[in-house]
Amino acid sequence: MNKLVDFKFQYVDKSVYPQVIILLSELNKHSHETYEHSLDVYNLSAQLGEMLGLSKHKLCNLCTAAVLHDIGKLAIPTYILESPNMTISQRNYVKYTHVKETIRYLIQGGFPQEVIDIASHHHEKVNGSGYPKGLRGNKVSFEDQILIVADHTSAILMTRSYKSGKTTKECATILDNMAKNNEVDKKITDCMVSILNTRDMLWQNPNNHSMSL
Ligand SMILES: [Fe+2]
Ligand SMILES: [Fe+2]
Repeated sequence: MNKLVDFKFQYVDKSVYPQVIILLSELNKHSHETYEHSLDVYNLSAQLGEMLGLSKHKLCNLCTAAVLHDIGKLAIPTYILESPNMTISQRNYVKYTHVKETIRYLIQGGFPQEVIDIASHHHEKVNGSGYPKGLRGNKVSFEDQILIVADHTSAILMTRSYKSGKTTKECATILDNMAKNNEVDKKITDCMVSILNTRDMLWQNPNNHSMSL
């Protein structure tokens, strides 16, 4: 079944729903693995946002930003995006171009400024070591940080054309280090680890296979 049809996007506002579906359909055709990653980041952001008690309005801004955070990759040729042997210059090109292009797609689609801000900060870090702006401290909002953690978690766990996925345990160690380095709030990484552990526990118990997190 087509995941896009199956996906309900509970936290995407009706006013932007059609634009989200059109952009995601394009992304699915352009790079299926980036599309899968975007759905994954939406799911993880929704679970984190709910667990951390965000209001419905904040959840909608966060989750809309989450599902479109890498939409700028539409502007990058698929052979570069999915290359197992990306050169350093290609890597830098993808790194900076996709954030710039994400902002352009979101402005063009008439998305709220809050959504554009969260999506454009998904590679920033609280300690200032992120990109493209090297924002610091409270310039990286709580919602920004939720998206940063969800994006990292998905990237760490997923197997892509150029790398294999890591285990939940390995992922938890990387997330702990992110919090120790003051890249994101520890409350968010702890929450992410507990969501992953619960998911693993349910998958290990065959009686719970019908449950979905
Ligand atoms: Fe990205
Ligand atoms: Fe991403």
